[in-house]
Parts: sequence; C-alpha cells; structure tokens
Amino acid sequence: MNLVVFFLVVVGLSPAAEALDNGLALKPTMGWLHWERFMCNTDCDHDPDNCISERLYMQMADVMVKEGWKEAGYEYVCIDDCWPSLQRDTQGRLQADPNRFPGGIKKLADYVHSKGLKLGIYADVGKTTCAGYPGSQGSYEVDAQTFADWDVDLLKFDGCFMDWKLLGEGYINMSKALNKTGKSILYSCEWPLYEWPFHQPNYTAIRETCNHWRNFDDVFDSWNSIKSILDWTALHQDIIVPSAGPGGWNDPDMLVIGNFGLSHDQEESQMALWAIMAAPLLMSNDLRNICPRSKALLLNKHIIEISQDSLGKQGSRTAKTNSFEVWERPLSKGRLAVAVLNKQEIGGPRGFPISGIPGWKICDPQCTVTQILPEYKEMGVQTKQSNIVLSVNPSGTALVTITPIAGDLRRLHKLLWEKLSVRRIYTESL
Ligand SMILES: *[C@@H]1O[C@H](CO)[C@@H](O)[C@H](O)[C@H]1NC(C)=O
Ligand SMILES: *[C@@H]1O[C@H](CO)[C@@H](O)[C@H](O)[C@H]1NC(C)=O
Ligand SMILES: *[C@@H]1O[C@H](CO)[C@@H](O)[C@H](O)[C@H]1NC(C)=O
Repeated sequence: MNLVVFFLVVVGLSPAAEALDNGLALKPTMGWLHWERFMCNTDCDHDPDNCISERLYMQMADVMVKEGWKEAGYEYVCIDDCWPSLQRDTQGRLQADPNRFPGGIKKLADYVHSKGLKLGIYADVGKTTCAGYPGSQGSYEVDAQTFADWDVDLLKFDGCFMDWKLLGEGYINMSKALNKTGKSILYSCEWPLYEWPFHQPNYTAIRETCNHWRNFDDVFDSWNSIKSILDWTALHQDIIVPSAGPGGWNDPDMLVIGNFGLSHDQEESQMALWAIMAAPLLMSNDLRNICPRSKALLLNKHIIEISQDSLGKQGSRTAKTNSFEVWERPLSKGRLAVAVLNKQEIGGPRGFPISGIPGWKICDPQCTVTQILPEYKEMGVQTKQSNIVLSVNPSGTALVTITPIAGDLRRLHKLLWEKLSVRRIYTESL
C-alpha cells in the first residue's frame, strides 16, 4: 500500500478549490451581527436602546467581554444595513449617519479594538443597499479604502439592486479592491443568493473571491425559517458542501437563539446544525438581555469545538427516515459529529437507535460515544452492536460525537513495525 496515499485518505486532505488568500476565516467566523434582531431601526428619539447607533455596538462589545462571549470565541461585532448617511461626502466617500454615529466609524473601531474584539461593517454591490442607503457600484475602490482607513475588520457585502449578470464581476472587483488596500478584511458575500434564481453559481469562483457566502433567504425568528434553511441546504449539498473549507464557508445566516420565536429544543437544533454545517456563528440577539438557558447553549464549548474543528469540513444530511434526519460532519482524528433531528411535530420524545446512523460503521470494532445535546453524557465504549437509543424531543436534536478506537490503525502499525524489524534482523544477519 502506498503510505502517502494512505495517510492523505486517513487525514482527509482532499484539497478543495483555492480559498481567498487573505489569511482570514480559517475557521468559521464567530461574532454578533445586528440585522435579525435590530433590523433598520433608526428611531433613536423613541427607542435609543435598540436603534442602529454607535451606542448599540459599544454596549454589545462591553457585554461580549464582560460576560464570557469573547472568551468563548465570539470575536466580531458587526454592523448591518442602515448605518450610513443617505449622502456620500463631498469626496464621494460613504459616511456614517452623523446623529446616530457622532464619533464616526473609525472611533467605533478603535473602541471595539480596545476591547480585543473586531468590527464588521455592511455595504452593497449594487446601486443602493437593500434598505435604500448608498450602494457601492462604481465606488468599489473608494469604499474599500474608506473601510481600510477606518480600520474595519469585516465587510458584509449585500447584493440588492444589481443587474444579476454583473453580480460576479462586482463581487470580484470589490474583493480585489479590498486586497489592494493592503489590510486583511474578512469578506462576507451574498453572491450565490442573488444568482441562484437565474442559474447555478460558480462555487469555485466564489471560494476564490469570498470568505463566506450566503446561499439562501434571510433567517427569521421562527422554526419554519430554520427548517427552510436546512431543507435548502440538504437539497443542494452535493453542490455547496465541497466548496467549504478553511478560508471559505457556506453561510446559512445568523443564529437567532435568545430571541422570541424558537422553543428551547428548536434553539438546540439550530446550534447543533449550524455546527454540523461549519457555518459562521453570528448571533443576532440582545446580549444585554438574554435568558440563561439560551446563553448557556450559545456558550456550549463542546458544540463550539465541533464548529471550529481543525479538519474544516462541512457536514451534510446522510439519512432521512421515519421523520428523523441524520446529519454528520467528519472531524479531525477520524471522529464524527452526528445530529439526529426529530422532525415530527406532534407527540413526545421519540427514540432513535444509534446503530442506525450511517457513519456508525466507524464503531467497528469499537468506538467511544459522547452525547452533547440534549445533555452532556459520556456513553463509554460501544461496538457495532450497541443498543443505545437516543431520545429526541419534537423539533429537537440529539448531538453526539463518535471517536473510533483505532483497531485497524494499530494493527497496521504493528504490521509495519514487524516488517521493518524483520528486515533489519535479516539485513544484520547478512
Ligand atoms: C492579496 O492577494 C495576494 C495574492 O492572492 C495575497 O498573497 C495577499 O496576502 C493578499 N493581501 C491581502 C491584504 O489580502
Ligand atoms: C470590474 O472591473 C473591470 C475592470 O476594471 C471593469 O471593466 C468592470 O466594468 C467592473 N465591473 C463592475 C460590475 O464594476
Ligand atoms: C468557474 O470559475 C473558475 C475560477 O474562476 C473558472 O476557472 C471556471 O472556468 C468557471 N467555470 C465555469 C463553468 O464557468
């Protein structure tokens, strides 16, 4: 057996297409993004705590440091639409709304950096943003330079009000403009989302251009929305999953955990599946006021470990049976993360036999199993014939990791070692 090939297969180094070479997003991005929770609320007179203003991001940054979010890995504090003034300045540059951002974006970036965090901003590839603020079409280089001058760390680049035939060119031009500034700025795109209605996007080109990319509709604060994103992803997984890897990720949109629309089981499902999908973990919620259970879920270090696994492979749906879905993600060291989602929205908890997981074959001859959701439980050494039954609540998810006990690898090692020693003894005796 060719050892090099053997190790490439074992370690899982199937080279994906080239990623955008800016040194960023080697693991799925973690942070906070205002859109789903705060939208385009510009009414600071009547709703000063929730309007899009520098105060909102400063308070979020404060909380992220004080309450363990930063320590858990959440790093980017991201502005979405509705931050700019409706007019560019006299030199054609974007400027922040002077009433809502009296200090300006540079000062806000300095503040966020002083907390050890990073600042994200938002713009649009077309004539105007989705909410009607100035777009970047025709000003890519000026805008990229403005963001670099402000010391911004991430750009979410939306795709509203753009001729779809120019989308790719626009996204590529902005990517080049960002590169030309000499500052590494994480580049979050919506190119495929706006191209899908017309034809299948070129994911090789997208991966070369962007650090992550939205494929499908905006997330809403509802279980229906989460389900529609999962359904879309599973339906297109053969096309999109291979394009994900260190430097570039599919983006199923924000985590809405800690808001109003999901039950706790549904929140667990979103967290588990976003980790399986190697998705950016960008929370959109009010970290100043979040229930302890949602907070504990978002900070669950075992789930974050799956999300940030160094192998950097996106998982996919591997089985659909009896109103269960099984999603599996290969992890480093030959391990596997498995989410079993109960899609039957009537009745009580239902059992799923663990040996029904397609990837369960790595338990031959033996493996260890750790359950992470609904609660942490070491399930010990298991064999192919294990009779564990996972209990899964309606619209909830059981999340486990499986670690093979490498019988095969050990046998191979022994074999190689014996061969080498035999040859040495033979050579020495000559
Ligand atoms: C710009 O692109 C080149 C070539 O891909 C890369 O080596 C360099 O690191 C990039 N610079 C930035 C700031 O992204
Ligand atoms: C992208 O840049 C090229 C080269 O400068 C230019 O010809 C083209 O019009 C630009 N496309 C868009 C959509 O800005
Ligand atoms: C997709 O993009 C890549 C990289 O830019 C290019 O080499 C390839 O020809 C494109 N494929 C199609 C089908 O256009």
